[in-house]
This record gives sequence, C-alpha cells and structure tokens, in this order.
Amino acid sequence: MKSSLGTGPVKRVLVFGATGSFGSKLAECLALEQVCVVAWVRPDTLLGKKERLDKLRIAGVEIIEGDFGSRSQILAALTGVHTVVSCLSGVALTLQLELLGIAKAAGVQRFVPSEYGSSPEMAANDPCMEGSVFMTKQAVRGAVLASGMAWTILAGFTFMHYFLPRLGELSAELQCPPEEVQVFCNGQYKASFVTLENAAALAAKVVLDSRTTNKFIHIRPPGHHLSQPELIHTWTRVSGQGVQQIPVPSLVDSIRGSRGAERARLQFTYYIWERGSQSATIPNDELEACKLYPHVSLVSPSAYLAALCT
Ligand SMILES: NC(=O)c1ccc[n+]([C@@H]2O[C@H](COP(=O)([O-])OP(=O)(O)OC[C@H]3O[C@@H](n4cnc5c(N)ncnc54)[C@H](OP(=O)(O)O)[C@@H]3O)[C@@H](O)[C@H]2O)c1
Repeated sequence: MKSSLGTGPVKRVLVFGATGSFGSKLAECLALEQVCVVAWVRPDTLLGKKERLDKLRIAGVEIIEGDFGSRSQILAALTGVHTVVSCLSGVALTLQLELLGIAKAAGVQRFVPSEYGSSPEMAANDPCMEGSVFMTKQAVRGAVLASGMAWTILAGFTFMHYFLPRLGELSAELQCPPEEVQVFCNGQYKASFVTLENAAALAAKVVLDSRTTNKFIHIRPPGHHLSQPELIHTWTRVSGQGVQQIPVPSLVDSIRGSRGAERARLQFTYYIWERGSQSATIPNDELEACKLYPHVSLVSPSAYLAALCT
C-alpha cells in the first residue's frame, strides 16, 4: 500500500540535505515506507561522503547529482515528485526560498521545510536572536505557508545528543558524569528530548501522512518534556552521582558580547532555557507525532542517560 496524502498516493519524495546528520536518517526511514525516495546531492559531496551515500543506496535511496545553482536541473529532478523534504542546515537554509518556487513550478504537492527544532516564531524582534538560524527559518516558514502548496512543519523538540550529556548545557564534549552544571533562568522552562533516530522514524511517517497536511506537528512524548532540574534529578537517580548546580539567571549580557559559533551556542541555550521556546502547551489545532504513531518505540531520557553511565 502506498501512503496517501489526500491528493493521491505519495509515490516519489525528494530529500534535500539527505547527506546530513538528520537528513540521512530520515531518508533511510522514508525508504522503509514503500515510497520512492530521491536524494539531491552536490557533486563534491558524492566524493566527500562516500560511506554515507553507500548507506543511503543500500537503503534503497536513489541519488541524483545536482548543482543548486542550476534551476533547470532542480526543475527536472522535482518533476514527478509529490513531496519535497528539506533537511538543509546553516547557510543552506536560505536556498529553500528558491527551491520552494521551483517545486511549485514542477507541480510538487507538499513542501516540508527544514525546522526540526524550536519553533522560530519567538525569535522575531528579539535582539538576542539576531543572526540566528531561527530568523532564516521564520522567513522560510512564512514563504512556505504563503506558497499555495500543501505543507507540514515538524518542530518543537531537541535532539538528545546535543543537550542530555551535559544535562541541559549545550556542549559537543561528552563529559560523563558531569560534576557541575549551569542551570539557566531558575530551571523554570521545559524542552522536549528525542533521539535523532527516533525523530527520523517519526518524521518519515509525518511527511507521508494525509492527517499532517497543513499542520504543525510537535514531538513531545510523555516523560520526554523536562526542565533542567528534572534532567538533573533523572541523572542523579540513574547514575547515583550528585551534581553541583551553578545558577545562571540570564545569558543576555553574554550573547551581546559574543560572535560566531560561541554566539550560536549561547543563542540555542538562551532560546530553550530563557525564552522557553519548547515549554508552552501544544495548541489544540496542532498535533503531537507520538499520539499519531504510538507503535513507534522511543528511547526515554532516563534510558539515554543510563546508557551514558556504562
Ligand atoms: N532540534 C535539534 O536539536 C537540532 C539539532 C541539529 C540540527 N537541527 C536541525 O535539523 C536540520 C538539519 O540539520 P543537520 O544537523 O542534520 O544538518 P547537517 O548535518 O549540517 O546537514 C545539512 C545538509 O545540508 C547540506 N548543506 C550544507 N551546507 C550547504 C550549502 N552551502 N549548500 C548546499 N547544501 C548544503 C549538506 O550537504 P553536504 O552533505 O553536501 O554538505 C547536508 O546534506 C536543520 O534545520 C537544523 O537546524 C535540529
């Protein structure tokens, strides 16, 4: 059985960013869903990410080599595609504005922009968020909603591997067990934690499901929506280790004087723990992915933290 999207069966899905961390997992999960999955890949990437591309091919993903500078190449690749899924990141996020127009011209029916994190709307008019990816994501979101194509926006969650090893601090270094942790803004806000693999499995179902057409979808399973004090409590329970907590009332001054990667790290932390970008109740007209697909089994935050102890 092909998946259906109201407007007919989804036969062909094209993924931009399928060589990325999230996009590669999502493309592999989509390939399990009995649709034809196509990955648009830049020529240099074909050489540079051979292993990842081999994995995609083995999963059944068709690779199309293409140059983002060539409208005619993109138009040809998108012709006959039902749904476009973007997993682009960083500076490539702005490419989506052009891809959107080409997708519409090619007759694509649904566009899924690259969000997969905090919803960008709270970043508007916040000087602390200037220059962040959320400003670009908000501009893309506006263009997607105005495009006339069907859309689905999947947002409102955080990948566990970014925030859990340091109990809510954003650090690439996996220090385990942490001896001390900065607790931001009195630990008053919550965020929703999910593994990259679980998010990809849910996202593959979301983008092929007619129920998610023109809907905002969150990933917020019970037990995964936690404050920093709750994360610390969970860690203490599973590890038997105490953690010294260092209160940080605000990051505003630190963001003001920061730049580059350090500014981005502070902005992500501020957005989640000081603005509460994933804390609010999900509005009634928006959906939660785990309620739609209760059979997808998920790694809980406590299981993830327990695995760090071994
Ligand atoms: N919620 C969270 O905790 C969280 C964490 C991380 C990311 N995210 C979000 O998830 C999405 C995907 O992020 P990711 O970490 O998977 O990204 P990633 O690993 O950096 O991969 C991004 C993809 O974009 C492509 N790309 C990068 N720069 C490009 C450029 N200049 N021109 C054309 N293509 C370019 C890459 O292609 P090549 O392989 O050819 O370079 C790659 O396929 C983003 O929206 C990101 O904000 C969310």
